[in-house]
Amino acid sequence: MKKMKEISRKIIATFLIVGTVMSIIVFHSLDKNFFNPKEKGAWVLWNENPASEAIISWESTNLEDSTVYYGENLNLLNYSILNPTLTEIHHIILTDLKSNTKYYYKIGSSEKMKDEINVFQTAPDNENSSFTFMAISDTQQTSWSNGFCDKVAGKLKTNIFEYDFLMNVGDFVWNGEDQSDWDDFFNTYKEVFNKTVLVPVIGNHDSSYPKVNESSTQSKFPSYFPLSSNSNFYAYSFNYSMVHFTICDFQYGSEDEFENLRQSQLEWLKNDLEQAQNSKYRIVSFHCPIEASGFHGINEDMVENLLPILKTYNVSLILNGHDHHYEHVICDGIDSIILGGGGSFQDPHAILINDCQNMVFGLTYTSISVNNDYIQVNTFTLDDDLVDSFKIQSRRDD
Ligand SMILES: [Fe+2]
Repeated sequence: MKKMKEISRKIIATFLIVGTVMSIIVFHSLDKNFFNPKEKGAWVLWNENPASEAIISWESTNLEDSTVYYGENLNLLNYSILNPTLTEIHHIILTDLKSNTKYYYKIGSSEKMKDEINVFQTAPDNENSSFTFMAISDTQQTSWSNGFCDKVAGKLKTNIFEYDFLMNVGDFVWNGEDQSDWDDFFNTYKEVFNKTVLVPVIGNHDSSYPKVNESSTQSKFPSYFPLSSNSNFYAYSFNYSMVHFTICDFQYGSEDEFENLRQSQLEWLKNDLEQAQNSKYRIVSFHCPIEASGFHGINEDMVENLLPILKTYNVSLILNGHDHHYEHVICDGIDSIILGGGGSFQDPHAILINDCQNMVFGLTYTSISVNNDYIQVNTFTLDDDLVDSFKIQSRRDD
């Protein structure tokens, strides 16, 4: 009898051990980031030459060198770059790429490459090529919006080959100083970022720049997306086909922020737009809207100091976030959209302003298609219901 009990105990113990090991294997295979939440990527960024260059980026758990294999053929990654500098956040610039060409690539180190083959496409070098990009903002995950970010990312994954790149107009995360927020965000967007190019715009929640809070921990936003050549603000620009894109750093639009940045960023913006007058369209993106029917209302500083510049340099479209809803506003004749249905909780506050053309609450994403005659803006719910649609005619020949 005693021997039988001993055998039973051994059988139960064996089942428990085998069961635990099997559970770990299954759980690990379901979520590869479970054991290494710090591991991220790949994601692809553009510098000022999207037709011929791309920045391949990722984060590793340990200090490693940076190795990329890439090529035009999925089965023949015949180019490689190795940067021997040991780092955790990796950025490798691919140069001399062909325009309008799909490139496949793998990331890793000289010791070990990852298995996954990722893909992105370079910009056309023809200034008459039509294209489409997706725009979202405020993907920030909070306890009040649990799962919203995943739903939007899931939608953008299913139609990934219908657009040429993805722009996020800020507030990627709830707290840019909290590493776990970045870990969650990159994990959620992994299957999107490994198949397209990301155009990042900084939001107030992403930042901990000294101008926001002298004592705060440095956010990793500029390390993850090192595109700004300015040390005091996060701004850059590039041309894609017939559009000049300008990305600015207006996070709160507060009086202090605006006063401190007026002399530097506004001068930079004027200079950038002045040099872009030959482009058919100019699209300017910054996080805080000039006018909104939501919580942040009409920003008088921006109306007074920023809007006249955008007007003078004939900006075709303004892209914003910050308010947590979708809205189409016409600011002094310039079409402006707030993309705040990108994954955060929806703020029901609404006092309709005169310039509001349309306002939508709920999760949305916006498709922006550009051709020689017009820019077409279409905004959809995650069920693909079209909730806003308008055209902006080309005004180069005015
Ligand atoms: Fe914001």
